[in-house]
Amino acid sequence: MSQATATMNQLSDRINQMQESATIKMSKMSRELKAQGHDVIDLSLGEPDFDTPQYIKDAAKLAIDKGYTKYTPVPGYPELRKAIVQKFKRDNNLDYTVEQIVVSTGAKQSIANVVLSLINPGDEVLLPAPYWVSYAAIAELAEGKCVEIPTTIDSNFKVTADLLEQYITPKTKLMIFSSPCNPTGSVFSHDELKAIAAVVKKHPNLFVLCDEIYEYINFTGQKHTSLAEFSEIKEQVITVNGFSKAFAMTGWRLGYIGAPLFIAKACDKMQGQFTSAPCSITQKAGEAALLGDMTPSFDMVKEFKKRRDLVYGLLKEIPGLKVNLPDGAFYFFFDVSSYFGKTFEGKALNTPEDISLYLLAEGKIALVSGESFGDKNCLRMSYATSEEKLVEACKRIKEGFSKLN
Ligand SMILES: Cc1ncc(COP(=O)(O)O)c(C=O)c1O
Repeated sequence: MSQATATMNQLSDRINQMQESATIKMSKMSRELKAQGHDVIDLSLGEPDFDTPQYIKDAAKLAIDKGYTKYTPVPGYPELRKAIVQKFKRDNNLDYTVEQIVVSTGAKQSIANVVLSLINPGDEVLLPAPYWVSYAAIAELAEGKCVEIPTTIDSNFKVTADLLEQYITPKTKLMIFSSPCNPTGSVFSHDELKAIAAVVKKHPNLFVLCDEIYEYINFTGQKHTSLAEFSEIKEQVITVNGFSKAFAMTGWRLGYIGAPLFIAKACDKMQGQFTSAPCSITQKAGEAALLGDMTPSFDMVKEFKKRRDLVYGLLKEIPGLKVNLPDGAFYFFFDVSSYFGKTFEGKALNTPEDISLYLLAEGKIALVSGESFGDKNCLRMSYATSEEKLVEACKRIKEGFSKLN
């Protein structure tokens, strides 16, 4: 028995069965190549390249000086939860009480709290695909059964109410989706969500986790719609949001939920055992972020839109790629299936993963294969980087594809 097999045997089935995050894996590979001296353009991670706005940093410095350095209440400081209540009212016309808000160490922990609080072994968790990688990993950790609802680029990767209805069974407990969506950039309209709400209403035992972390990065010109706005299903919806994307605060680790009270209480209990509470200083920064002048965030969104338009033009020029115009977030999710079966130096490329590894090795460009997002045809490209790098990246992608036979 090899050393690796021996130690695997000592670990739990739970961790042995868990997939490593594909985005983190790709970014690790690109960092290794960079360390070897290669000029890699890494478009694998979902991280704004902007710095956190100054007014937020100032609030954190003040928090340290004022002694906000102790354990906080498990679901977060009351003043931050109050600011979140105000935000939900201001931006989403949602009425939550402070008790319905739980603040966590990133939206990722918020999602884990909810899923672990709701899912029993064998419960079905609906994932309109493509979906964010961690939804499946967390649902599986809770021993839920993930049920993918496939969509394609031809419908802008959006699940319809009709399609959703076909996948609901007596065992369905939860649906998880994001709008604006990672990885596709799709944004659900008010009418599309209204139709989905009508289906959810028919199934009172079904809950929906609505991940709105990209809420502000929306280029449709239409106001963001939260699923919880449809009051007839509000008691079935958990709204997740966070600070990483809107305020360029990925490293600060702060997210939150607005939820039915019994779910909020369960999440409070859960994180009381896992992390005690999110970081005190980060919480004070988050409070300032929500209550302050959000101009820096809106400026970032304008910049993302410029980049989206630039990259769309460049990707469309690459023969064989199927590209749609994403309405939000900062990703393209383009279909490369017309290249399946083509070869490089005699080796066939048959999957998006084969193509992403080829583009990394030959073009020194890191993209993430669609497979880990529940898709078999696409690659995800993050455009949260400078225009100069994006132009060079698209050039390398084009050259990479042109070398295939
Ligand atoms: C759709 C989606 N939800 C949640 C998260 C997690 O955000 P946080 O950094 O707040 O944990 C991400 C981060 O990439 C995301 O893309």
